Amino acid sequence: MTTQKRRPTTTDAGIPVASDEHSLSVGADGPLLLQDHYLIEQMANFNRERIPERQPHAKGGGAFGVFDVTKDVSAFTRAAVFQPGTKTDVLIRFSTVAGERGSPDTWRDPRGFAVKFYTSEGNLDIVGNNTPVFFVRDPMKFQHFIRSQKRRLDNNLRDHDMQWDFWTLSPESAHQVTWLMGDRGIPRTWRHMNGYSSHTYMWINAAGERFWVKYHFKTDQGIDFLVQEDADRLAAADADYHQRDLYEHIRDGDFPSWTLKMQIMPFDEAKSYRFNPFDLTKVWPHKDYPLREVGRLTLNRNVTDYHAEMEQAAFEPNNLVAGTGLSPDKMLLARGFSYADAHRARLGVNYKQIPVNTPKVPVHSYAKDGAMRIQNASDPVYAPNSYGGPVAQPELTDDGGHWFADGEMVRTAYTLRRDDDDWGQAGTMVREVLDDAARTRLVDNIVGHLLDGVSEPVLVRAFEYWRNVDRTLGNRVEEGVRAKQKAVKRPSPAPSGAQA
Ligand code: NDP
Ligand code: HEM
Repeated sequence: MTTQKRRPTTTDAGIPVASDEHSLSVGADGPLLLQDHYLIEQMANFNRERIPERQPHAKGGGAFGVFDVTKDVSAFTRAAVFQPGTKTDVLIRFSTVAGERGSPDTWRDPRGFAVKFYTSEGNLDIVGNNTPVFFVRDPMKFQHFIRSQKRRLDNNLRDHDMQWDFWTLSPESAHQVTWLMGDRGIPRTWRHMNGYSSHTYMWINAAGERFWVKYHFKTDQGIDFLVQEDADRLAAADADYHQRDLYEHIRDGDFPSWTLKMQIMPFDEAKSYRFNPFDLTKVWPHKDYPLREVGRLTLNRNVTDYHAEMEQAAFEPNNLVAGTGLSPDKMLLARGFSYADAHRARLGVNYKQIPVNTPKVPVHSYAKDGAMRIQNASDPVYAPNSYGGPVAQPELTDDGGHWFADGEMVRTAYTLRRDDDDWGQAGTMVREVLDDAARTRLVDNIVGHLLDGVSEPVLVRAFEYWRNVDRTLGNRVEEGVRAKQKAVKRPSPAPSGAQA
């Protein structure tokens, strides 16, 4: 084969190399030489290819696309990205939460739905899930929750006993666990699921009026799901089923899209709403706060370098542009710290200079130096200065909260309101949203999950947990578990020390 028209292999310094196949040795059968710097570069680079995976949400994939504003919501926000007619480049990453980087896409788990809008005012990240609620409402419990979903210390196995132990001792998890055990706990593909901010955020309009909002990205492909048996089969046959599906549809020009709709609550209504509108374990009923269309998000370009553009993508809920803001949701406030910290640990302090994370607007920051910084701003490196350095312009930002707090420093739950409880909305979903067939699949999924290694005291708590959500549901779960326990007498484990 001629090498004339092919590009020469080079070292990372651009120097053509002598061989793709042979290391430098003393004679064909002799020892290798230390001066074979190309061999050393190959081995050293290989040994450093892996970076730490994300702590939660390690397995995932995504694509680039565009967000088109189709409706006028300028009465509610001044953010340029949401003004009529605006088009903004976006990046999305979908993920499972508990599994590691190589874990199957079709395990039962919430799915991450992280969107980065490269807006003309800097990056806006909405780092949501495919569910509108979450398992806990205080960030102190997040780490414990995630550990209960991952692996045990002793045998390195995932453990349903640990999962149900945590859930049944954390009644605020009931709404999200109902979701998880229902049909939407395993979406057919990433294209067939919604994305939700889950949290309440703030929008601010040009007149400075404030609104509380929730983002809903509704799939235009329609909701679809996998039943447990199909998901289990796929987990064995094609662990990357969701990744493959997205990649192939975009490659073939069948671009998936989502319609962004918002729930919008006038600022003052939050004070007297019947439950705490910042509690992440609750939705706002649609009849109280109907969805308002904003625009369409379309994915139309696959990544070309998964490591550079997905593994090193850094989403952070604190990336908020003018016209948008945080809310007093304690989980959201903690996330405002956690993500940037995770990126500094995983990718390094200059992770925002990795091209996929770089905003499409000029950066005039006073940050400088640090490992792997590609480009510093210019002198002067301090403020205030009299040499023409950048100057903060508060009118370009809505940073700072726009709500106020007063009170003693305490460690306590949110103040309860009339309709605040842990079970009500989960019960509504079971009774009013699901049909008979979906309720039966819910019971079957819970029973199957509980029969997989959950110990007796935790089982008893689980029956009570489901009875609190819905009496009939709890009774059906208990009957299902007890009947299967009787029918399938599991072989007792071999006595310790026994030979196989
Ligand atoms: P609505 O009847 O207006 O809304 C019901 C919602 O349930 C719809 O948005 C629908 O989503 C969603 N849904 C349908 N099937 C399932 C399923 N198998 N698993 C999970 N969600 C499903 O009633 P409310 O707004 O009063 O809410 C009633 C209950 O519905 C809530 O307690 C909550 O559990 C659940 N829910 C509410 C949402 C909200 O933001 N209000 C969002 C999602 C669920 P879609 O239209 O996309 O099919
Ligand atoms: C990923 C922390 C709650 C959605 C992560 C990561 C951390 C984290 C450390 C890994 C980030 C990385 O290495 O890139 C937390 C904390 C939470 C919390 C401390 C609560 C206090 C939530 C909630 C949602 C969510 C409520 C959804 C509404 C996501 C998503 C990712 C993620 C989608 C993956 C982002 C990506 O694709 O890169 N979280 N999380 N998290 N989290 Fe959370």
